[in-house]
Amino acid sequence: MTNALRSQFPILTPGLAYLDSAATAQMPLAVLDAVRSFETTSRANVKRGVHRLAEAATDAYAAARRDVAAYLGVPASEIVFTSGCTAALNLVAHSFGALMKPGDAVLLSGLEHHSNLVPWQMLTARSGIELRFLDVDADGRIDLSGLESKLDARVKLVSLAHVSNVTGAVLDVAAVVAAASEVGARVLLDGAQRAPHGPLDLKALGVDFYAFGGHKVFAPHGVGVLWARAELLDAMPPFLGGGEMIAQVELTHSTWAAAPAKFEAGTPPIGAAIGLGAACRWLGALPWADIAANEQHLCQRLLDGLGATPGVRVLGPQSLQARVPVVSFALEGAHPHDICQIMDSAGVALRGGHHCAQPLHKRFDLAGTTRASLALYSDDSDIDAFFAGLAKARKILL
Ligand code: ALA
Repeated sequence: MTNALRSQFPILTPGLAYLDSAATAQMPLAVLDAVRSFETTSRANVKRGVHRLAEAATDAYAAARRDVAAYLGVPASEIVFTSGCTAALNLVAHSFGALMKPGDAVLLSGLEHHSNLVPWQMLTARSGIELRFLDVDADGRIDLSGLESKLDARVKLVSLAHVSNVTGAVLDVAAVVAAASEVGARVLLDGAQRAPHGPLDLKALGVDFYAFGGHKVFAPHGVGVLWARAELLDAMPPFLGGGEMIAQVELTHSTWAAAPAKFEAGTPPIGAAIGLGAACRWLGALPWADIAANEQHLCQRLLDGLGATPGVRVLGPQSLQARVPVVSFALEGAHPHDICQIMDSAGVALRGGHHCAQPLHKRFDLAGTTRASLALYSDDSDIDAFFAGLAKARKILL
């Protein structure tokens, strides 16, 4: 199964163990072909022209929105294309934030990616909204025992990572949704690291907002998705102004188009969105039980091998329970950048540093870690290369 999948990714040539999929996942031929087809047969701007290419581009962009929506189990009118996951989170912080009053609160956690911290800090600086934080437990999970004491009627939004980009821990969404609904708080999930690891049924999750980026789900860079319930999109003011997000423009004031256009100012990332639509069609047809079994097998190999390596400390769950194959570790006496550089010379692509999660690393008294992140095309040869590279790094550095 994996080899058939892997052969669909032209960049994955022998000699490359690509273990940085949590930073950017590679693109299969189905996506590359869809982007090439658009750019070579239908490239034009959308919603603006009446010529043939403009109409073809507009139709293809609308079809991509329907494909993304179908994959997520929601109406197309609730899908906003953004420039990425960070832009989607900023959109909510700005536009849902505009509906909050001084004294209202947002509940975050100590393991968030900076993209789910900084926009809220900026909102606080503008509006006097309080930020509250759930702690991180020793396993690298959000400590949900704090929900009861940190949630009250002042909390209007709980905004958490569905999966940590450092520890790989999967959030217990049902527990969060149940607790938030007790106090009438909305729930936003940063799904950047969950979306690549299997289909999502957003309505079944019971959340109110969901954000992820295209390049993490085998689609191009420069496109992302914000899903939100229709009543929220209707109530929220726009974030960016200009282009086709308007109904009527006067010299001194304007009125807005209906969502999702209201949130898509300027020329959207058309080719990238078409690639994302193709990725969702492709993802929807994959054998996910086989993929999950393969990812778990490889993740177990990583955890076992790292557990047996002297001086290694894994940040995150040590078992496969509620985790994805994103494994970060510290090697005593070695800097993550040095490890990554030596591993690169052995053909292994990793990420080293704070992974845009400085508070999480501080929680564990570390400045950074080295991260191996797998995807549906990963196989045993990648893990073999990883451990051979790690042995080389240890020999040189320690
Ligand atoms: N958020 C991406 C990562 O964790 C870039 O690597």
